[in-house]
Amino acid sequence: MDSVKIGVCGLGTVGAGVVNLLQRNAGEIQRKTGRHLEVVQVGCRRDNADCDLAGIDVVRDIFAVVNNPAVDVVLELIGGTDTALALVQQALGNGKHVVTANKALIAQHGDALFALAASAGVSLKFEAGIAGGIPIVKAIREGLAGNTITRLAGIINGTSNFILTEMEAANRSFADVLVEAQALGYAEADPTFDVEGIDAAHKLTILSSIAFGVPLRFDAIYTEGISKITAEDMRFASEFGYRIKHLGITTKGKRGIELRVHPTLVEKSHLLAQVNGVMNAVLVDSDAAGQTLYYGAGAGAGPTASSVVADIIDIVRNQGSDGIPNLGFVPAAMQALPILGIHETQSCQYLRLSVLDRPGVLARISSILGQHNISIESLIQKDARKALAPIAIMTDEIPEQAIIAALAELEALDEVIGSVSRIRVESF
Ligand code: HSE
Repeated sequence: MDSVKIGVCGLGTVGAGVVNLLQRNAGEIQRKTGRHLEVVQVGCRRDNADCDLAGIDVVRDIFAVVNNPAVDVVLELIGGTDTALALVQQALGNGKHVVTANKALIAQHGDALFALAASAGVSLKFEAGIAGGIPIVKAIREGLAGNTITRLAGIINGTSNFILTEMEAANRSFADVLVEAQALGYAEADPTFDVEGIDAAHKLTILSSIAFGVPLRFDAIYTEGISKITAEDMRFASEFGYRIKHLGITTKGKRGIELRVHPTLVEKSHLLAQVNGVMNAVLVDSDAAGQTLYYGAGAGAGPTASSVVADIIDIVRNQGSDGIPNLGFVPAAMQALPILGIHETQSCQYLRLSVLDRPGVLARISSILGQHNISIESLIQKDARKALAPIAIMTDEIPEQAIIAALAELEALDEVIGSVSRIRVESF
């Protein structure tokens, strides 16, 4: 039987990992597919000493790979959204299946690319773009296909999770741990993508689309990163019984879809709070299976290659188009439900204020909260005799607009110094 001819575009960590995995497990993969998966061509700016390219045609023009009539499946592993977009469009237009690890590309251009793939009768697969080695796309599209999903929440950026874990464990500052994360090679080229939540927003946009059958709405996602979190917030959260995690949360309710990425207080006893270091986890609430949780490495050569190769195997097993619409819903049944603005959501809140030690200050704070119908669930005051003392407050569930208005009034008080920190709380 003919081999399946694979063209690889990009030979960085992931590209080299895929070449290695296909070579190392060639026999095992052949037992599963009945076919030999053969890398026939690699397009890359430079070779990568981490993999053996003997017998493979190596070219410097990646477009030569998508225009190569011998290539059946193109792997887009270059990242970015400019050249990658043109590359994938050309590959699909040429009738080639495409497997990508590029979440930014799918989150921003996926709807048009899926339509192009459908019209060309080929597959566009992207498991590796979300949570690395965790087969979360497969779990949602296939394993949970009989369910109505109501909420999905995930720790989907390993760099942010590593930083938060270290800050809490060693009482260190954000800036200090970020330097270590960069030295360890966890943060991507631009750390902003990781620490300001953009990478997680790309991934959540895709997960929401798969979970609810809605178009990809990266333009409408609320995104907040971890750069303002302090070790003091970690300590207060712990005293209240919580850990601070950076979560992507999407829900489907009567009013529409919530789509938000932000630091979140999670009860210490919940499994999500135990996900530490660079690991990822995605929790799914669904009506029949109930709550399920998927845990694993969110990045790295091996885990990402695992997902890329699984996508290739899916394509091969189904002899071309796998018959499952790319986002798991029949295209005509995709629903453009409203994406709720963050101001239309509500949640319990954690607040931290630095206040001057003056009589009546607590009364003024609680009076402002009361005027906005915000009930205090618990309060911790530290070092009350110091000139400047921190106060941490947990509120009950309140509309976002109420807390925004209350925060403005609290910050206007003479006794409140600087801005008020606030973090949303999520219950599972
Ligand atoms: N930079 C990402 C992370 C990995 O830290 O999770 C690739 O998506």
